[in-house]
Amino acid sequence: MVDHLTLGIETSCDETSVAILRNGQEILANVVYSQAHLHNKYGGVVPEIASRNHVKKLPFALQEALDQAKINLAEIALVGATHGPGLVGPLLVGLSSAKGIAYALGVPFVGVNHLEGHLFAHALEFPNEPPPFLGLIVSGGHTILVHVRAYGDYKVLGETRDDAAGEAFDKVGKLLGLDYPAGAALDKLARQGNPKAISLPRPMLNEVGVSQWQFSFAGLKTSIVYFLRDNPKGLPADIAASFQEAVVDVLIEKTLKAAVQLDTKRIVVVGGVAANSRLRERLQAEAQAFRKNVFFPPMALCTDNAAMIAAAAYFQHTQLHQKHSLDLAPMPGLRL
Ligand code: KG4
Ligand code: ZN
Repeated sequence: MVDHLTLGIETSCDETSVAILRNGQEILANVVYSQAHLHNKYGGVVPEIASRNHVKKLPFALQEALDQAKINLAEIALVGATHGPGLVGPLLVGLSSAKGIAYALGVPFVGVNHLEGHLFAHALEFPNEPPPFLGLIVSGGHTILVHVRAYGDYKVLGETRDDAAGEAFDKVGKLLGLDYPAGAALDKLARQGNPKAISLPRPMLNEVGVSQWQFSFAGLKTSIVYFLRDNPKGLPADIAASFQEAVVDVLIEKTLKAAVQLDTKRIVVVGGVAANSRLRERLQAEAQAFRKNVFFPPMALCTDNAAMIAAAAYFQHTQLHQKHSLDLAPMPGLRL
């Protein structure tokens, strides 16, 4: 069989990423340029700065990916790029570049839903553990529990009503003086703290009906604001550990309950917050009592990257015969 090469492009937020996959599975290159250093002094992503830097960096990311994969652009058979959800300017940069390359090469183009892309991080790492599974997508922009009946067949059980889990990590991290994005630094700081030091709520754990699968993390951040106001000398490590424990408690309890109710054997956690060490360690351990197998992709596939986007594009094209027209627009509010 002749190798099929997919080019993937991801620019939905503040990572400029280009990947090349062989036969939809083997990662020949997955180049990620993070812009975090450009945004951290503002405490969050500035869309205009992000757009301009995607324009600047994308050609270099593409060349680096081609060099790493040791291929010529002309060998690419399919181009996939994130077309939503995300920031409209950043999306437009990756999407327009992808369409231009597809047009120049005369190959098909597929617009990828970034959230579906996150799920394909699992397909890349664990090709022998296919759906059905319960997916937990936890990132800077989303917190979603989804029943993945098959790739391409998603039933969303619940999402966050306000802040996403990663957003809550970033905001609480900022209150503790950590740079954006603060998730990884807060995770590290929490290791030196006592998770029981501060009593915090466990939001939405007592809901019934459809709202039992929903999340809310904005109130936790407010609790930390008040705690810091009343205890300005509170130990940052204790605050970090207590906050992280509250988020992890909620994520684990809802995820296990959904996995039991859906009777799925596998639980798949993806997105930036899947890199959280406490979530990884506790969910792996606590799922055993319920005889559920938990899968976390490696860190590099958890946070935003184009390999997962290329994998989703390959699946959409080869299995579902998807091919988008070149007037496909960015969709900032696209849902799973
Ligand atoms: O998936 P991702 O790279 O981008 C989005 O699609 O949003 O996720 C980024 C989010 C950020 O909020 C970041 O703080 C968080 O993932 N994150 C973490 C950790 N590493 C990254 N949150 C908690 N613990 C971590 N170790
Ligand atoms: Zn993401």
